[in-house]
Amino acid sequence: MEHKKRSTFSGSLGFIMAAAGSAVGLGNIWRFPYLAAKGGGGLFLVIYLGLALTFGFTLLMTEIAIGRKTKQSQLTAYGELNGKFKWLGVVASLVPFIIFNYYCAIGGWVLKYLITFITGAGKQAADDSFFGGFITGYTQPIIFNVIFLAATCTIVYLGVSKGIESMSKIMMPILIVLIVAICIFAVTLKNGDRTGLQGLKYFIVPSIEGKTFRDVFNVVVDAMNQLFFSISVAMGIMVTYGSYLKDEDDLVKSVNRIELFDTGIAILAGIMIIPTVFVFMGEEGMNSHGAGLMFVAIPKIFEQMGTVGTIVGAAFFLMVLFAALTSSISILEAIVSSLMDQFHISRAKATVIEAVIALVLSIIVCLGYNLFYFEVKLPNTPGATNQLLDVADYISNNLLMPIVSIGTCILIGWILKPKAIIEEATKNGEKFGRRSMYVVMIRYIAPILLFILLLKSLGLLDIIFDFIGLQ
Ligand code: ALA
Repeated sequence: MEHKKRSTFSGSLGFIMAAAGSAVGLGNIWRFPYLAAKGGGGLFLVIYLGLALTFGFTLLMTEIAIGRKTKQSQLTAYGELNGKFKWLGVVASLVPFIIFNYYCAIGGWVLKYLITFITGAGKQAADDSFFGGFITGYTQPIIFNVIFLAATCTIVYLGVSKGIESMSKIMMPILIVLIVAICIFAVTLKNGDRTGLQGLKYFIVPSIEGKTFRDVFNVVVDAMNQLFFSISVAMGIMVTYGSYLKDEDDLVKSVNRIELFDTGIAILAGIMIIPTVFVFMGEEGMNSHGAGLMFVAIPKIFEQMGTVGTIVGAAFFLMVLFAALTSSISILEAIVSSLMDQFHISRAKATVIEAVIALVLSIIVCLGYNLFYFEVKLPNTPGATNQLLDVADYISNNLLMPIVSIGTCILIGWILKPKAIIEEATKNGEKFGRRSMYVVMIRYIAPILLFILLLKSLGLLDIIFDFIGLQ
């Protein structure tokens, strides 16, 4: 296929900032610390790091190389590599198409909290009924969602270099400064006889005391699931961003730096949240998760800090907003770029089409807490009731994403063979460290791990464990 001139990032730094901006998102800040706390702190951390260096490296390298090799975004890239894999491009495009809507809805919540703290009303956010009252309202969640969506669309409309790259280069350094400052604050906290340093120890030191084999296995699966969402693979994003990477740029180094960035920020998020929750709420506080942690528990902690809590709260939500925005632009870019590649339309047209669709769908997600309210139990969260947003998240993250990555492993590991990716990554004579590991991973280990993840998502893993009597 002949390629028309494609936009590119101005260089490796721009690419790394944009890709790290995509990777560092809501997942790092609210989900990683919660899973780490649930998975025994240090135990989760060690497993996560091991997986990042092997499983994460393999998937990230593969997707970025596919993008650069084909100069296509996900919708058409897989089909260009092998005509029989066109379906994979379609499934990989469904993922950002679904995620984008609820990501904007949550981005709107973050914006609401930021404004609440900036206007000095942070105390209200600590009230038990604040979060529930806000999301079940008809107007505010929609208004904040629309603002977040409009900001995302404007950046993507401006293009790869002028929009995505320049905004990431501004937002990412600010994000790092804010998170480091809040971390220092968190570890120096004290409340009664509990200190931030004790909380930090809980996060860092691995302990398997009282854990069964099955518990440890579940920690591995949780870590894998988190890593998967966090590095933005299986959503088309890294294929799309890879397609804008110049041929002369060092792909291997870029992949290593993105991973370092993403894992580093996830660890900082843990250092920021785990000691804070521990100091003010003890070990029980670690049980609140997801939306509960970020929008209910954390504001309560800021309230206990008094006046300084208002400033820390505003800094915290500004940092989360930047993390969410640099991720949402990447999710939208994967959709817009695919529309441009598939239908040969302009960026402006593709952005406007998706903006209109997302406007409707994200409003429906917001109305999932009132007009379209329902309760459903999903296999991945036994005991919890879920709403529309959770269903969308379940379909995209838990079902479609493992399928996309299993398909990618089969295509690269068995049909094109790993050398296709290694050759792409080393075409300027770069060194491909972990080469043998990469080959074994993409052919055998990654597809097996992904299949286990899919079984867990379907609620079948526990049934199998019960059947074989594993404790
Ligand atoms: N990787 C992004 C996140 O962690 C999507 O939120």
